Formats: sequence, structure tokens, C-alpha cells
Amino acid sequence: MSTVDPAVIRVTDLVVEYPARERRGAPVRAVDGLSLHVNPGEVFGFLGPNGAGKTTTMQVLLGFIPFSGGCATLFGEDVRRPIARQRLGYLPELTYYYRFLTPEELLRFYAQLFGLGRSEADRRIDQLLRLVELEPHRARLIRTFSKGMQQRVGLAQALINNPDLLILDEPTSGLDPLGRMKVRNIIQRLKDEGKTVLFSSHELGEVELVCDRVAILHQGRLRACGRVTDLQAEHQAGLEHIFLKLIGYGEVPCA
Ligand SMILES: Nc1ncnc2c1ncn2[C@@H]1O[C@H](COP(=O)(O)OP(=O)(O)OP(=O)(O)O)[C@@H](O)[C@H]1O
Ligand SMILES: [Mg+2]
Repeated sequence: MSTVDPAVIRVTDLVVEYPARERRGAPVRAVDGLSLHVNPGEVFGFLGPNGAGKTTTMQVLLGFIPFSGGCATLFGEDVRRPIARQRLGYLPELTYYYRFLTPEELLRFYAQLFGLGRSEADRRIDQLLRLVELEPHRARLIRTFSKGMQQRVGLAQALINNPDLLILDEPTSGLDPLGRMKVRNIIQRLKDEGKTVLFSSHELGEVELVCDRVAILHQGRLRACGRVTDLQAEHQAGLEHIFLKLIGYGEVPCA
């Protein structure tokens, strides 16, 4: 008898290699035997220094890149099957939108891609522009927006199909404290609606505020995973100190 996996995301012994950078060089192992899971309704923080393998792992989950070992599922479905992505929304690390469009036009474009009817699209666009606080700017060109506003357009776009799972790659990068707070509030609202959120971030303070659990990745390997409070109790230190220790910059060398 088969059982349904209760986890929204499950990654088991995942290995991802990129082709060698130089001729006759070795492949680059970006993810090296990673295992983790994210439960329904959780906000899960994906941490790690530059090059740790966060974006690569997310791209595997999105079905964008192949992997050479292990397995990865969304809602119990292999990520290589398009059905796994049906309930997924994604904010990429770098957002390049059609800057000559207004947020309303951009959202309508994505609504059409997802096959939403006219009245459903209207309703959804109004709702999302309110959620990301861009309602007063709905008819302004995106190219006139600040970075924080553009990031919120990206969030609205990621939500157009009302997904159950959001994968957000550094949603607050480069934002000022107010912009970060706004994004944090949106993540909190999504959590309150029962959505599952996986997001990467270098802002440890904000991760502490919003995440149920975190994973710390280094050189493609999982160095720690759990509730922030449990990790703090285990290591007798704050999250930043734990992070630095686990990537080899603390007084205690990592295992
Ligand atoms: N397209 C690619 N081709 C070759 N190597 C790559 C490619 N993309 C990433 N890498 C390498 O894979 C490793 C993991 O990169 P990745 O972008 O997943 O890290 P990250 O944790 O998202 O880092 P950051 O915090 O800087 O966004 C790095 O060594 C990187 O140089
Ligand atoms: Mg990245």
C-alpha cells in the first residue's frame, strides 16, 4: 500500500553537479547529498553563505535543472514531473520584468498564462495589488519603481495562480528596513492563509522573526536544520554566531 508523503517539499540525498568550468576540470558539485523536508504551512528559511547551493536546490525543485543523484519531490510528486509544479509560485533571485508594463498589465499577462478567466483575473489582480501595497501605483510603469516596489511586483506575480507553495529566492535582498518589513508581513500573511514558504536569505535577523524552521547549508551540505530556538539552545548562541561557526568561522570547527 502506498502512503502519501505529508511533506510539501522532500529532498533526499540530492546531488547536483555543474559541468567543469575549465577544460579537463572536475564537475562542480553544488549540492552534495542534501536531505531535508518542509511541512505544510511552514515558513522555512534556507540559509548559507554565497555559493552554498541554495539557488541550485531551488532550481531543482522548480524543475529547471537536472540532478545527478538522490530525489526531490513537491507534494509527493517527483519534481521532474510537470504536475509537481502545479501548486507552486516562484520569485527568482534576479527579477527582470517587462519594465515597460504597469504592474496591472504584468499581472494580467501572467494571469493569461495560467489560463485565468477575465473576471477571476480582475479579482485576483485587485487582491494581489492590495496585498503588496501597490494598489495606488497600479497604472505606473514598472521601470519607474524602486527596487523594493519591483520586488513586491515579483511577489504578486509569484502569487497569481494562488499557489500552495512559494519558493522565494532572497525576497528581501537589497531592500531597506521598511521594504524588508513589508515583505516579511506578506510572508506572514501567506503563512496565516496556510501556505508553505521556502525562502533563502542572508538577513538572519529577519529569518529569526519569520521562520518556523531553518536549514543552514555550506558547500552543498546541510550543516544544521531545526527551529531557530532549538538551534540556539543546542549551540548556546545566536543565529549569526551559529551560522559563522557552522561555516568554519567560529571558535568551534564544524563537523
Ligand atoms: N550555472 C552554473 N554553472 C556552473 N556552476 C554554477 C552555476 N550556478 C551555480 N554554480 C556554482 O554552484 C555553487 C552553488 O551556487 P548557488 O548559486 O546555488 O549558491 P547560493 O547558495 O544560491 O549562493 P548566493 O547566496 O550567492 O545566491 C557555486 O559554487 C556556484 O559557483
Ligand atoms: Mg542564490
